[in-house]
Amino acid sequence: NKVLFSGMQATGNLTLGNYLGALKNWVTLCDEYECFYSVVDMHSITIRQDPAVLRKRARNLLTLYIAAGLDPKKNCIYYQSHVSGHAELAWILDCFTYMGELNRMTQFKDKAAKHADNINSGLFTYPVLMAADILLYQADVVPVGIDQMQHLELTRNIAERFNNIYGDVFTIPEAYIGKVGAKIMSLQDPSKKMSKSDENPNGSIYLMDDPDTIMRKCKRAVTDSEGCILYRDEQPGIKNLIDIYSACTGKTPDETVKEFQGKGYGDFKPAVGEAVVSVLKPLQDEFARLSKDKAYIDSVIKGNAEKANYYATKTLRKVQRKVGFPDRI
Ligand code: TYM
Repeated sequence: NKVLFSGMQATGNLTLGNYLGALKNWVTLCDEYECFYSVVDMHSITIRQDPAVLRKRARNLLTLYIAAGLDPKKNCIYYQSHVSGHAELAWILDCFTYMGELNRMTQFKDKAAKHADNINSGLFTYPVLMAADILLYQADVVPVGIDQMQHLELTRNIAERFNNIYGDVFTIPEAYIGKVGAKIMSLQDPSKKMSKSDENPNGSIYLMDDPDTIMRKCKRAVTDSEGCILYRDEQPGIKNLIDIYSACTGKTPDETVKEFQGKGYGDFKPAVGEAVVSVLKPLQDEFARLSKDKAYIDSVIKGNAEKANYYATKTLRKVQRKVGFPDRI
């Protein structure tokens, strides 16, 4: 069976971008592959966190994976920090990654600019830990949004470099980018991606926003004065709303344009809001239901960490042997 790996950070409130760019595709692909979906809490501490808040958010995120439709009996849903192999492989891969490569990572540059008082070495080697996540499970496919493409490219380069020295150790992973929704933009500034850490809460739709809030944010979305609903770069706000509507309804952007031909923004924006509500409401209800079932979530956490650990250790032992660490007796 082919293997799928992906992960999400439990930092900040998840947005519609995280859902449409990643989680939604995870659910579509989950029957086709042997899947590992991680809550990447080790990545989260590259930025200062309140421990109690991080713990709570990590649990909420894991619960949300299940609420979205992933099946913890078939898909491995677990905390990254519960599988020590991630850190162990990351160290080895650090020794096969060049400073110059990491210096070119745009996400590092953005985050370093934003957190100038805490440019720690974990933030710098963040992409290597991500490579370890993926390579540890010999993943064939990694469904992510466009913003993670550069990290994935680096992962492939590290894996190829390692394989060139030691033989075929790692599977070279491919990114899976959805046809629509791979880059959802801010509703207030369509030149910026929708982000968990946006200061303007009207720019992002959060997965836990109530229907009124979602409708209000969609109606207030920044557009233009063209007045027509066309899918083109000259109308970035409308283009983004077409992406959102299409991703939520399963239509193509072309079909959406046809559907709203001759209509104005006053019709389109509320329709986008309704499409988003109809996707998020069931997710929220299921999340609320599952959150109450402490014993069930606990059992998922324990059982799946063991499963992940089994596969992780297999790769790790192979890698350790290749680089020359002594055998365990
Ligand atoms: P994170 O937590 O920032 O985002 C999780 C996923 O959501 C996607 N995404 C978006 N997609 C479309 N439009 C947007 N506006 C948008 N914002 C976020 C991201 O592309 C991502 O797929 N480094 C990763 C987490 C990670 C990971 C991994 C992913 C760690 N290890 C291994 C894949 C494989 C991150 O910070 O994603």
